Amino acid sequence: MDENVLRVAIVDPDDISRASMKNMLLGVESLWLEADCSRYEFFIDVLDQATPDIAIVSLDADPVKGLSLIQQVSRQLPTCAVLAVSGSQEGSLILQAMRNGAREFLNFPLHLEDILAALDRVRSTPPSMVAGSTMTRIRSSRVIAVAGVEGGVGCTSLAVNLACMLASHKSNSVTILDLDLSLGDADVWLDLLPDYTIQDLAENIQRIDYSLLKRSLTRHECGAYLLPRPVQMSDRNSVNGEVLKRVISLFKSTFSHLILDLSKNYGELEMAALDSADTILLLTQLDLPGLRNVVRLNQFFDEYEGINDKVRVILNRMGIEETQISMSKAKETIDREIFCQLPNDYQAMVDSRNNGVPLMQQAPKARITKAIEAIAEVFHEGEPGEEMPKKPKKGLFSFLSNG
Ligand SMILES: Nc1ncnc2c1ncn2[C@@H]1O[C@H](COP(=O)(O)OP(=O)(O)OP(=O)(O)O)[C@@H](O)[C@H]1O
Ligand SMILES: [Mg+2]
Repeated sequence: MDENVLRVAIVDPDDISRASMKNMLLGVESLWLEADCSRYEFFIDVLDQATPDIAIVSLDADPVKGLSLIQQVSRQLPTCAVLAVSGSQEGSLILQAMRNGAREFLNFPLHLEDILAALDRVRSTPPSMVAGSTMTRIRSSRVIAVAGVEGGVGCTSLAVNLACMLASHKSNSVTILDLDLSLGDADVWLDLLPDYTIQDLAENIQRIDYSLLKRSLTRHECGAYLLPRPVQMSDRNSVNGEVLKRVISLFKSTFSHLILDLSKNYGELEMAALDSADTILLLTQLDLPGLRNVVRLNQFFDEYEGINDKVRVILNRMGIEETQISMSKAKETIDREIFCQLPNDYQAMVDSRNNGVPLMQQAPKARITKAIEAIAEVFHEGEPGEEMPKKPKKGLFSFLSNG
């Protein structure tokens, strides 16, 4: 369902019917209300900005203007399906709306079932079958959860820096969700002082729209957005798994990448996050306690459908100490491939965190930076959950040779 969230914009000069339509749409989980507009004249600009999948045009305030708007939208924005709405059932009006390019015609008063059925038809009609449509765009969003096998293993460092690197590609829009609701510190890494937190979003989930969502996020200068943990520790239970899934599905309709920085509780919230994720980056160090916990988590994840398939193990802080554990022994122990290795670079990391400056700015040439950049490339170009290239890029895997 999440992949199928439809983004909607509405235009209706009548305040009352617009508000009631808006209310109805906001309650539908598979929809994302991108914008609502009270003037036919401004709607094309709104659509240009918001690029929704569906435009709902209410005709009754001025049927002539409404019909010509429908024509304009279907000509100029063929990727956007138009739904016409009117209190009139007049055949000529319906016919004209359809001729002008409306995909569906709905009657006021609107019933939720009718809207859902119409949206289902829009969704299930392949774009190529729609006359005149050149729609090829399929919006997809990647949800990457960063999890760890023990405290301090490097989740936040990786989540924040990966997000910044992805955000540096112009075509990406990236948000970090700090899901360590008790002690999360992603804001420190980015030196941000956010106005709103995930708690505000969760409390307003029913009436949130695109502009409110954007306003509730804090943007780092690299382009990445952050949604931080609640301000007060006592509010750490304000977001449950179900609400989190809704929050994630809203973000998915707007951002190309969502990076989830998880705590090590592995409770309801974390499991909901892992369930929503396309890929789970599981960090460990190459030592006995770490590998043991990888196995332990594997066993636990087996109780949930689909989680283990998404796990990619990352060895962090490689080279920090002489290890007796060979790479082959590690793979055998955890019964998994190693997705990649990140070198230990204490100085770069500490400088980056203390200054609140991401690695790509703080230490652009450091090996740790290059290694995380290689991960970012995978998620920038590849498919969700895709394995690293069989032939690793030089430097990334060549780090350890005892494999
Ligand atoms: N590759 C690395 N090289 C050197 N230091 C590192 C590396 N990765 C992380 N660190 C350091 O380890 C410490 C813990 O990292 P971080 O806060 O990212 O871990 P975490 O898993 O998010 O911790 P927590 O369990 O508290 O959420 C930080 O001080 C960070 O600088
Ligand atoms: Mg952390």
